[in-house]
Amino acid sequence: MDRFPVRLILLCFISFCEQDVDIYSFHINSTVTSRYAITVITSRVANRLNSSKEIHFQVKIPKNAFISKFKLTTEGKTYDGVVKQKEEAQQQYSQAVSRGESAGMVSSVGRTLEDFKTSVTVAAFSKVTFELTYEELLKRRLGKYQLLINAQPMQPVADYKIDVYIQESPGISFLKVEGELATHELGSAQTTTIFDKEHMMVNFYPTREQQTMCKRCSENGLSGDLLIIYDVIRPKPSGELQASNGYFVHYFAPTDIQRIPKNVVFVIDKSGSMRGQKIIQTRLAMLKILGDLTGDDYFGLITFDSQVQDWKPELLQATERNLDEAKTFVNMIKARGGTDIDSAVLAGVEVINSHPRQGSASILILLTDGDPTAGETNPESIQASVKSAIQGKFPLYCLGFGFDVSFNFLEKMALENNGVARRIYEDSDADLQLQGFFEEIATPLLTDVQMNYVGAENVTQASFTQYYNGSEIVVAGQITDNSLETFQTEVIAISKHNNVTYQDSVSIIDFTDVLPEDENFIQRLWAYLTVKQLLDRQLTLSDHEKEMVRKKALYLSLKYKFVTPLTSMVVTKPQEEQTQVAHKPSEEESNDNPIQRPIQNPNTKTNTKCQFSLSPPAGGVRFIISAQPKPICYDMPADHKLRLLQDSSSNFSMNGELSSNGFNLIFLHYKTDHLMLSTKEIHYYDGQNMRQTGKKETVLSLNLLQNNQMDVTMGTVCVGVLRHEKDGDTFLWPVVKQPPSNITATDYQNSSTPTVQCWLVPFQFALQGELSDFKVLQL
Ligand SMILES: *[C@@H]1O[C@H](CO)[C@@H](O)[C@H](O)[C@H]1NC(C)=O
Ligand SMILES: *[C@@H]1O[C@H](CO)[C@@H](O)[C@H](O)[C@H]1NC(C)=O
Ligand SMILES: *[C@@H]1O[C@H](CO)[C@@H](O)[C@H](O)[C@H]1NC(C)=O
Ligand SMILES: *[C@@H]1O[C@H](CO)[C@@H](O)[C@H](O)[C@H]1NC(C)=O
Ligand SMILES: *[C@@H]1O[C@H](CO)[C@@H](O)[C@H](O)[C@H]1NC(C)=O
Ligand SMILES: *[C@@H]1O[C@H](CO)[C@@H](O)[C@H](O)[C@H]1NC(C)=O
Ligand SMILES: *[C@@H]1O[C@H](CO)[C@@H](O)[C@H](O)[C@H]1NC(C)=O
Ligand SMILES: *[C@@H]1O[C@H](CO)[C@@H](O)[C@H](O)[C@H]1NC(C)=O
Repeated sequence: MDRFPVRLILLCFISFCEQDVDIYSFHINSTVTSRYAITVITSRVANRLNSSKEIHFQVKIPKNAFISKFKLTTEGKTYDGVVKQKEEAQQQYSQAVSRGESAGMVSSVGRTLEDFKTSVTVAAFSKVTFELTYEELLKRRLGKYQLLINAQPMQPVADYKIDVYIQESPGISFLKVEGELATHELGSAQTTTIFDKEHMMVNFYPTREQQTMCKRCSENGLSGDLLIIYDVIRPKPSGELQASNGYFVHYFAPTDIQRIPKNVVFVIDKSGSMRGQKIIQTRLAMLKILGDLTGDDYFGLITFDSQVQDWKPELLQATERNLDEAKTFVNMIKARGGTDIDSAVLAGVEVINSHPRQGSASILILLTDGDPTAGETNPESIQASVKSAIQGKFPLYCLGFGFDVSFNFLEKMALENNGVARRIYEDSDADLQLQGFFEEIATPLLTDVQMNYVGAENVTQASFTQYYNGSEIVVAGQITDNSLETFQTEVIAISKHNNVTYQDSVSIIDFTDVLPEDENFIQRLWAYLTVKQLLDRQLTLSDHEKEMVRKKALYLSLKYKFVTPLTSMVVTKPQEEQTQVAHKPSEEESNDNPIQRPIQNPNTKTNTKCQFSLSPPAGGVRFIISAQPKPICYDMPADHKLRLLQDSSSNFSMNGELSSNGFNLIFLHYKTDHLMLSTKEIHYYDGQNMRQTGKKETVLSLNLLQNNQMDVTMGTVCVGVLRHEKDGDTFLWPVVKQPPSNITATDYQNSSTPTVQCWLVPFQFALQGELSDFKVLQL
């Protein structure tokens, strides 16, 4: 009779644990080909109940991306999302609403991400698969690209995978993984594989246990961002030109140029609404920004409320004395009064225009947190007078602080004057956002950049007022001249001292037979970039032209199935459920968007049970030297940078930084090549002179072995690197497998006097003392 109660308990246990709705598989697969990223999120869910149940699918995608596909598969049938003109989709949506169905619009805007969510009713004991695809061109900022992947499946998942595959043809200069999911405790879930310089892969496969036992997770699983950050090598100053199937793309980001001195004028809103944290953060940021100006820069400061206050009526050189004076002025900025944007910006333009300087780059920066309320308040009049004052001579950047600002107004004004508008989010890091923006434009390298392509049409923006270090110019287009065998580009620009010309050409490869149209990434990249730029342009145009531009953007959005502000995706669901419509929210909409607050996510609850404690205080690390008859060991204090191996005959060296249990950083240097290994990332620096691809010298080979092991061969030296985990700390341990040179000694301890390979070390190291300690005067 004993068996019965036991079984009963087991049954209870199972029904308690097993989720009614089981996400049994969650995959994110991102493929980046020359900065163009296509990401597919696939979620497979089972309804384990004996009745039908509404199942939700909710993910976050980067703001810059366009959704291009959505599929829902259940009971053997697939329902595809269809991209339609927004108005048409809206109509379907309204009909659904008028039938009393809650066909919720599907997105809201956050700082870097927007939401996509939908749901479907799934029959008893049935399964559903959701598949969402989105595309984006990664933008280079401050010398790097960043692929942002957000993952929050809402419950622990048995089969959880994030795969990122990156292919960059001249080669990847460094790659690292950051973000909330790239923590020590999840370290063993993540691997980076370097196939060669051009192909790398990042995998993140947390076990079910890891999904519940980390700082960022709870019984609802894992939630957070994974950031894949990298840059590419640029062997040619003329950039990287690719062409196939009648389309080309040109990436241009020369670095070997002298910086051009700036004339920068800051126009800063100090109206009443800036009071409090905003003005404090603005002062902080300005002090730092002023500190970063260089001696040959000139600068001006204008603050405004209902009145305009020039700090000095002219541009001043960024000398130490002038900067100190400016900092004193900045520290005294107080917030009060109205907002006369018009007079302030015009005063800024006047300062720049009245101090022309040969061989410099002028920049006007407006920071405001509100709508114009004093002086000229009509947005169109302000835009018109600012445009006619600047006359396209230099860019105007508009920073909108917070959500009380009319972002459309600022965006239009910036775009009309070759600049961009950026929102500064009211948050504890607002000063860093301001500094970050300034850093992006801090180093002008070229002005008046004109990119020319012979035999091409429908080319995206090809002239740029300024090019800044750390950024990248990307131009794509159609090759319409069919007789071309090679495709040529010419870039003309003004650098610090002279006019420069870059030329390049590429042979046209025709993959027509091999690649279906929608797999040609260059063509999709062209479409993506064209739509983005048309959408920006239509903001600055008036009625008739605007309509033409919108039509073009709509045509391309529909053709390439992009969900843009002009289109929406209609998702028709099984069994006469309501139709849902996904649309792309604009930055401005977030202004009055009631769903501004992040959606309550059960995952963000912290589970104190799982709180993680660091390893015990470090006493030092014990090293072992193999020796006969017993190994020798010694202790080394932690937190030191150590030389582990040096061989001057082959110019190889290995250094390591010791943490509490082992090494957290290992550097391998071989001639001009440098490899950095940490528990999370591998950086590869290819010296100063970038190597031409194709004739790859086999200086470096990386082999990812199983069980957290990797072999690195540089020159003739081979080092195995093991990754260990102890007390929740992940660390590395190098093992020299192939020593640098061939040094031998005769072993006279053995009667047969064999010759053995050995390490040659300074005798002080081996004897733990100076020679004098061992010398005697008399035997
Ligand atoms: C990811 O997507 C690419 C492109 O569609 C495909 O080739 C690859 O097999 C996928 N990888 C995985 C792990 O599903
Ligand atoms: C569903 O299962 C519950 C117990 O789990 C049971 O009480 C109920 O009768 C079942 N319903 C159907 C329709 O089978
Ligand atoms: C541009 O940035 C690179 C690093 O990304 C740096 O090495 C170089 O010195 C910078 N150039 C100038 C002119 O500041
Ligand atoms: C590309 O250019 C050709 C020729 O100027 C034009 O007929 C065509 O409409 C353009 N295509 C797009 C998508 O703009
Ligand atoms: C650069 O080119 C412009 C015309 O594009 C010309 O006016 C200017 O004199 C040239 N400057 C130098 C230094 O050659
Ligand atoms: C090592 O480096 C030195 C100086 O950088 C150089 O002169 C020497 O030729 C190098 N040796 C080898 C073997 O590359
Ligand atoms: C080192 O010398 C030994 C014997 O002298 C030889 O067998 C071995 O191949 C040498 N290794 C290298 C890397 O030169
Ligand atoms: C002595 O050298 C021989 C030949 O290399 C080897 O086989 C033997 O094990 C050595 N004996 C000792 C005690 O190390």
